[in-house]
Amino acid sequence: MQLHGAHGYLISQFLSPLSNRRTDDWGGDLEDRMRFLVETVRAVRDTVGPHFPLAIKLNSADFQRGGFDEHESMAVVDRLALEDVYLVEVSGGNFGAPAMMGKTVPESTRRREAYFQSYAEEVRRRVPGMPLMLTGGFRTLAAMQSALDDGACDLVGVGRAMCVDPATGVGLLNGTVTGAPVEPKQLGMRRLLGRVINLRSIDGILDLQWHTDQIHRMAAGLPPNLDRTWRQALFSMIRRNGLGALRRRRGF
Ligand SMILES: Cc1cc2nc3c(=O)[nH]c(=O)nc-3n(C[C@H](O)[C@H](O)[C@H](O)COP(=O)(O)O)c2cc1C
Repeated sequence: MQLHGAHGYLISQFLSPLSNRRTDDWGGDLEDRMRFLVETVRAVRDTVGPHFPLAIKLNSADFQRGGFDEHESMAVVDRLALEDVYLVEVSGGNFGAPAMMGKTVPESTRRREAYFQSYAEEVRRRVPGMPLMLTGGFRTLAAMQSALDDGACDLVGVGRAMCVDPATGVGLLNGTVTGAPVEPKQLGMRRLLGRVINLRSIDGILDLQWHTDQIHRMAAGLPPNLDRTWRQALFSMIRRNGLGALRRRRGF
């Protein structure tokens, strides 16, 4: 079981000073902002018992000015080390700043693949006993192997590669696959559209939608279509979510 403490969902809304404006015991300084996470972990642990594997997905940062940052995130991992948690999965960003889809991370980091590896390495130094999973940006077996060999993580998470070939994981493990296709999705007409919409956000959502479309194709018995364009992904996004999907959002 994994509690989702990342990507702008409820637990990460509590963690972030941008979204958590509470003035009671559940907001304010980090100790209070992480109370919801800690209490949730305890409540779940009480319910599932001591032997049930319980993991947490945590943002390394929100990637927004004034948001939850790496310094705070590491303090949360310090705190989680005192609780009965099996594993922390490291990710980052949210739908306003989709770092998890590689949209707000520097080009050099994107080239190196693992978007949050430096953070994971720092967590490893700080909390050596905490099992870590690292997700976001992995494309090649070489990058995955080196993250494991460097001790940055104990588990590698793979998202988009699985959406275009569900056998990727097996292929990587038995050596018949050495990498996954990269299909970065990005809107055209950027100067014009950038005036009315949050481009980074839409790029992230489009990337997600393009891959969701591939899952829908496979569910319908069709092969994935790597030639699917961003325009087609945009149309299916609007068809599934309405025009509201393009609207600017507050902070997260
Ligand atoms: C189609 C799709 C659906 C996703 N759904 C979730 C989700 O429900 N929860 C989550 O934490 N991350 C979700 N993600 C994000 C992935 O967990 C991962 O952070 C992201 O794809 C980056 O990893 P990658 O570079 O291996 O794709 C999703 C990604 C894709 C492409």
